Amino acid sequence: MTTGTRQLDTTELEQRVKGMYEEVALEPDREFHFETGRPLAERLGYPAADLDRIPAAAIDSFAGVGYFLDLAAIKPGEVVLDLGSGSGTDSFLAALAVGSSGRVIGIDMTDQQLDKASRLAVEGGSGNVDFRAGYIERPPVEPEGFDCAISNGVVNLSPDKRAVFAAAARALRPGGRLALADIVTDTQLPEGVTCDASLWAACIGGAMQRDGYRAVIESAGFEIEVWRDNPEYRFVSDRADNATQKYGVTSISLLARRT
Ligand SMILES: C[S@@+](CC[C@H](N)C(=O)[O-])C[C@H]1O[C@@H](n2cnc3c(N)ncnc32)[C@H](O)[C@@H]1O
Repeated sequence: MTTGTRQLDTTELEQRVKGMYEEVALEPDREFHFETGRPLAERLGYPAADLDRIPAAAIDSFAGVGYFLDLAAIKPGEVVLDLGSGSGTDSFLAALAVGSSGRVIGIDMTDQQLDKASRLAVEGGSGNVDFRAGYIERPPVEPEGFDCAISNGVVNLSPDKRAVFAAAARALRPGGRLALADIVTDTQLPEGVTCDASLWAACIGGAMQRDGYRAVIESAGFEIEVWRDNPEYRFVSDRADNATQKYGVTSISLLARRT
């Protein structure tokens, strides 16, 4: 979703996003525009006891922006789709919640994230979670095959958010839930920010204005039931922090139901 006359180069954006999250998978201790890892997950509200039950190396590469699994309320036996699963933190937690009678499918476009998550699933004996290569705008899954779709810090990275929410609606059975955390803004970002692929890859440039974001979800066929701000999420570089303060860039978590 682009605005104005200048255009974001979506091919460059995809390469930058892949490059950024390749590094998050392979070198999680590096410094990024955003925080990563277990201290971040715990500050966002992930219960330590739950994190203790999933592979530590997945959490090292955690790059989410908020906690939302309490809203998702995933039950044993359910089938869950994780859009932009990264190294797998939320997928592994969802896999614990669905148990052996349920299933989790994580989708990601970055090979190194997928390879890491898949390796950790095999090493940890998580037979009910499967990581697939794909785009969140057109995930390679059966229609109406899921009880719940989850996503953390990913939709803001997509230049076609309408396609992402339409794909989530298609993947869910009627009444299915969408629970996610993402970045939104108070005011529409100017072109200087929205056309900057490196600020997109840092989870800022692609953030939509919050009312517009709600409207896109609703027009995809969802009713938003819970919407909450996550003030505990913050960006770390000066450049990112400036944009954050100027345009009210914030993390939110939400629960929506497919009508
Ligand atoms: C900020 S990270 C979050 C990863 C994971 N959800 C977590 O919480 O750690 C964003 C992830 O989304 C993936 N991604 C971004 N845009 C995507 C797209 N259009 N289709 C599929 N994956 C995408 C990236 O490869 C990266 O792994």
